[in-house]
Amino acid sequence: MPKVSDVPHLGKAIMEAIERGAPDVDLATLPNLTDMSADKLTENVIAVNAGTPNPRQKFVLAALVRHMHAFVKEVGLTPEEWMHGLEFLTKTGQMCTDIRQEFILLSDIFGVSALVDTLNHPKPEGATEATILGPFFVEDAREVPNGGEIAGEESGQPMLVKGRILDMAGNPIPNCLIETWETDEDGYYDTQRSGESGYVQDCRGRLYSDADGNYAFRCVMPVPYPIPNDGPVGQLLRGMNRHVFRPAHLHMMFIADGFEKLVTALYFKGDIFLSSDAVFGVKSSLVEDPKMVTDAAEARKAGFKKDQFLLCARDFVLITTEQAAEELVKAKAKAAEEAKAKA
Ligand code: BEZ
Ligand code: FE
Repeated sequence: MPKVSDVPHLGKAIMEAIERGAPDVDLATLPNLTDMSADKLTENVIAVNAGTPNPRQKFVLAALVRHMHAFVKEVGLTPEEWMHGLEFLTKTGQMCTDIRQEFILLSDIFGVSALVDTLNHPKPEGATEATILGPFFVEDAREVPNGGEIAGEESGQPMLVKGRILDMAGNPIPNCLIETWETDEDGYYDTQRSGESGYVQDCRGRLYSDADGNYAFRCVMPVPYPIPNDGPVGQLLRGMNRHVFRPAHLHMMFIADGFEKLVTALYFKGDIFLSSDAVFGVKSSLVEDPKMVTDAAEARKAGFKKDQFLLCARDFVLITTEQAAEELVKAKAKAAEEAKAKA
């Protein structure tokens, strides 16, 4: 059977499109898409996508089409609602810049980011759980010595975070890269403040664990803050009567040879938004209750100028890349079994 370009007397537009890269398909391979009843339409779209060479992409697209069509049917989507949805997505795209990703925010407020994260990083009992990265990580945070300061004491209530980085057997992980970032006492990340002097790095830093897996850094107690809400996602949240706040948290990322990268955060007991995080990042295993230390000598020893500080003692347990791969296989097998039981 001929390819499209073998057919005589085709219009110039088709020939030029093929020259510019439009697929020159074999006509014999095309499914017959003539019955466009609501029942047949879903099958037709999946059939015409079936030539997708990448099997994973083909599988994902077929499921996407099935779910989109089922959604349209389930809610009885009207043309006005369809257009409203498209206008919303258009505004969401228009809000995106190099430093603002409104689509990720949209994914965040519907719990999709948290779900993708949790499903792809299953942890065995005893390993530190992961949580969402958020938009305020920067690649080039300044390095501080182990025990050093990532935030000036004037940026908030002083806090010392210390502990060990361990593997599942309790062995120390030396030389583990730790990235950490947080808000100041006003609830702003440094990247959200662009004063006259430009970007000034504060409340973030990177350090390495020592030979025994010990780490420590001085920071400030972060505070709750609003997610970016001056765009379409903020409008949507208002329309749903939802708040836009995250409980205070200290972001942390751990990278060590042979181990799965861990992106996580610590949350703090008593926070008013702990049970209603706008982006579903809180896991109870990540909630800490720092203790107030009022011994001036201890404060000096830790490097603080003030006489009292909060102490957040916390170990982190990483899994090896092999353990991570095994956990993922187990989690996928369990999910497949559950899906089969439901079907
Ligand atoms: C954050 O924790 O930095 C964050 C996460 C998701 C959306 C907005 C902020
Ligand atoms: Fe954050």
